[in-house]
Amino acid sequence: MEFLSGNFLCETIVPKEELIVSRTDLKGNITYANETFAEISGYTADELIGKPHNIVRHPDMPKSIFKELWKDLDIKGSWSGVVKNKRKDEGFYWVYAEVSGVYKDGVLIEYKSIRTPISFDDKVKYQLLYDQLKKDANETTRRIIYS
Ligand SMILES: Cc1cc2nc3c(=O)[nH]c(=O)nc-3n(C[C@H](O)[C@H](O)[C@H](O)COP(=O)(O)O)c2cc1C
Repeated sequence: MEFLSGNFLCETIVPKEELIVSRTDLKGNITYANETFAEISGYTADELIGKPHNIVRHPDMPKSIFKELWKDLDIKGSWSGVVKNKRKDEGFYWVYAEVSGVYKDGVLIEYKSIRTPISFDDKVKYQLLYDQLKKDANETTRRIIYS
């Protein structure tokens, strides 16, 4: 019998009226986190700043999505999509993210991401889609063990 501890099944709902905002350097290290990002992710802004953005990476996310994110940022200058993120307490939250460049005098200096909530139906749709993408890529898939 296997026991899983923690809050891994607990979802945090992103409020409709709030935006989760962060900025990173060109390597994906967090340079700014707004209060909503800190609150929803369960970290303080101080804990987030300076850390790679994969600090909130959820194991249910297929590698290919982030590969696409970085490729699109490089080629098109922006990416948008649905992301399941992991909180500090191992819980999770779903967002629709719009990632793009921050320019100063025409020069790309950082990236920013602005996130909003998604519907329940989309959470179900994307969970199943990402499960399939992981399966297709032979990545470890989601498994819930009841004890
Ligand atoms: C502006 C910006 C925001 C990002 N936001 C997230 C995020 O919310 N969650 C996430 O898992 N990865 C996010 N990423 C992608 C991460 O940098 C990283 O590529 C991803 O977590 C995969 O991590 P890994 O390559 O270590 O597996 C973001 C990247 C950028 C540039």
